[in-house]
Amino acid sequence: MTTTVRTRVAIVGAGPAGLLLSHLLEQAGIESVVIDQRSRDEIESTIRAGILEQGTVELLDTIGPASRARTVGHRHDGIELRFEGEGHRIDFAASVGRAVWLYPQHEVLKDLIAARLAAGQDLRFGVTAERIENGDRPRVIARDADGAPFEIEAEFVVGSDGSRSVARAAVTGSSTGGYFREYPFAWFGVLCEAPPSSDELIYSNSPDGFALVSQRSATVQRMYFQCAPDTDTAAYSEAQLWDELQKRVPGTELKQGPIFQRDVLRFRSFVAHELRRGRVALVGDAAHTVPPTGAKGMNLAIADVRVLAKALRALLLDGEERLLDAYPETVSRRIWKAQHFSWWMTSMLHAAPDATDFDRRRQLGELRTVVESEHGRAYLAEAYCGWPLDV
Ligand code: PHB
Repeated sequence: MTTTVRTRVAIVGAGPAGLLLSHLLEQAGIESVVIDQRSRDEIESTIRAGILEQGTVELLDTIGPASRARTVGHRHDGIELRFEGEGHRIDFAASVGRAVWLYPQHEVLKDLIAARLAAGQDLRFGVTAERIENGDRPRVIARDADGAPFEIEAEFVVGSDGSRSVARAAVTGSSTGGYFREYPFAWFGVLCEAPPSSDELIYSNSPDGFALVSQRSATVQRMYFQCAPDTDTAAYSEAQLWDELQKRVPGTELKQGPIFQRDVLRFRSFVAHELRRGRVALVGDAAHTVPPTGAKGMNLAIADVRVLAKALRALLLDGEERLLDAYPETVSRRIWKAQHFSWWMTSMLHAAPDATDFDRRRQLGELRTVVESEHGRAYLAEAYCGWPLDV
């Protein structure tokens, strides 16, 4: 027996985009059902990156005190770019009068899930979408946590189901159709118990490759170093990991401590060819993926949702399709700016395996151009802190 649920908007994927969208719709009196194939525990414990743009924090403020971004997160007014053994501060406050907050995505998810459940949101974990049937009344064909058939019939379906999106096929005609770029390197990430090595994030270019020194709290730190995409996390002893990290951050002594988590992040750039077809739209990683160097991933997802929520309000409350028709073009402008920024930071900071001496010196020239020019610093600061929201 198939269980069928009817609602106004079916949201496939309980990541930051899907959960925030259900909140914004509820504020407009529009009912939605959110499903995710993962368990609540899996969603809340998957380690993800942690930089929130100011506009993202402001939007999260609308869920009330459940958002701990400002209380538990840390405001950062700059970052350090490090090359040739020297650090150069990019001062966000001086350049663009904005800031970012260091607050990891899984903490954002805990806040959003708690707030949505407290508001009585129909939010179902362990429900796996198999396909979306597009049409006047689109349907999500799924299986519930026990494997039984489950369907949602809605007026609109939103695919916020991440980079391996099932919803994408209902929009682009295939699960892969998009603009795509791969990188010949990945990040080896560690979490360690140690005091911070720096108050702000350090993005370091070195002859041995890139490293990022980030933080989590007074006692836990997050760091990454460039590695080959097929690196096995078990291949390094703890001492070797510290050597790899330290040699990529010359000039700053890293404070060491026990490493209790390791992972390899493979990354790529992707934008789906189409972002909306009929009564189905894509947001977040289902629509686009960026390498983590620019810290744009979650922020871009949130920016999509803000535009789509407005378009759905116009459609479902006033029968007005204009904003929905404009959705792909509106969000594409920001998506491609973020694609450029993320690619630029990545290519400026990493050592490509086939780089020549010329490439390496040119890269240092590029870094010097950025840190020594007011315009260079301002571009980096503006893009990192986030462009003004579209609507
Ligand atoms: C993180 O703290 O995990 C982090 C910060 C900045 C990035 C990527 C990851 O660009």
